[in-house]
Amino acid sequence: MSEPTWLPPATDAEVTDSLTQAFVDRFSSLPDGVWAAPGRVNLIGEHTDYNAGFALPLALPHRTYAAARWRDDGILRLASLQQERTWEGPVAQVRHGNPRGWSAYVAGVARALADRVGASEVGLDVLVDGRVPLGSGLSSSAALSCSVGVALRDLVPGLRTMPVEELVAACVRAENEVAGAATGGMDQTVSLRAVDEHLLLLDARDFSVVPVAWTLPEHEVLVIDTRAHHSLADGQYEQRRRTCEAAADALGLRSLRELSAELLGEPRVRTALGAVPDGLRRVRHVVTENERVLGLVAALREQDTDRVGRLMTASHTSLRDDYEVSCAELDVAVGAALAAGAPGARMTGGGFGGSAIALVRRDEVEDVARAVHRAFAEADLTAPAFLTAYPSRPAGRVT
Ligand code: GLA
Repeated sequence: MSEPTWLPPATDAEVTDSLTQAFVDRFSSLPDGVWAAPGRVNLIGEHTDYNAGFALPLALPHRTYAAARWRDDGILRLASLQQERTWEGPVAQVRHGNPRGWSAYVAGVARALADRVGASEVGLDVLVDGRVPLGSGLSSSAALSCSVGVALRDLVPGLRTMPVEELVAACVRAENEVAGAATGGMDQTVSLRAVDEHLLLLDARDFSVVPVAWTLPEHEVLVIDTRAHHSLADGQYEQRRRTCEAAADALGLRSLRELSAELLGEPRVRTALGAVPDGLRRVRHVVTENERVLGLVAALREQDTDRVGRLMTASHTSLRDDYEVSCAELDVAVGAALAAGAPGARMTGGGFGGSAIALVRRDEVEDVARAVHRAFAEADLTAPAFLTAYPSRPAGRVT
């Protein structure tokens, strides 16, 4: 039986020299600097951000790096060490569909920031080195846009004093309006606003954040990249979002955040939701998930490992059965981690593939990974990959 594959984070030092050299080879001049932004996992609070609810993400030590040089002609020249396709064009012409693919996440940020300072101000030569696993539901796309977002903020005189909340909003617009993924803002918020060694309690009603300490020193978060393809730009994610909006509309609410579990039990509420296809189940997930986030924060404060684990597993059940965004690979990962003794496990991120997480005793991480690896082989699934997630620092300048 083969051994599990691990995906350790790169250190800044490992990346910056070779990336700077590659920038010089490509653009024939030194970059102004190198910036980086982390991917994320979400401990709990899934599909709640676009419902003005709660989430509890943490920044990964895995980061996307961007070597960048400011240009004063409003032109973007974009390249990546991981992608063959490059893109070149004026910021003023960036819109949904132009460019497509990975460069939409970069060009989209410049486009969103151009609304503040003018398109001629946000020209950039960029070479990206993405060290967040791609397509794993670990927000490599948010890491990409945020790495370029912090570069532009530092390089463009008119952006230097911009509050971080506005930079988050620009990165969200890039994803929503240019890349065409209707995501909810959790990923960009944690990538730009993470606090080292803390989780971030996000209240998506006003996008305020509260750092939450990791109080379980004997446990850590094992991430299982199922290698099942994950893409948010396809229809399922957006469909869930539209169902939630239709449900809030049917109830005359601004968002599902205003709905409590108690209200959800009322006959008039159930009747109204009955008219929205799948409405009752989808809404039940959102309402109970918001409660689980707050419950988990309380359990962390009380260092109640079992309760943290139970809430994580309950979140998975709800995402699988009520929200229907899990898949065979995620269910196998969660089931195998629990069977191997993890106090809790769940899918993380948008779902339909991507990654699962498990709360695991530090001295059992290897054993649990092996058990999950074995379960995938027995189920005839492509071998997963593993990483451990300790809460890391936010996006910023590296050199
Ligand atoms: C993706 C989106 C986030 C969030 C999660 C689900 O990661 O980018 O905004 O909606 O899915 O919680």
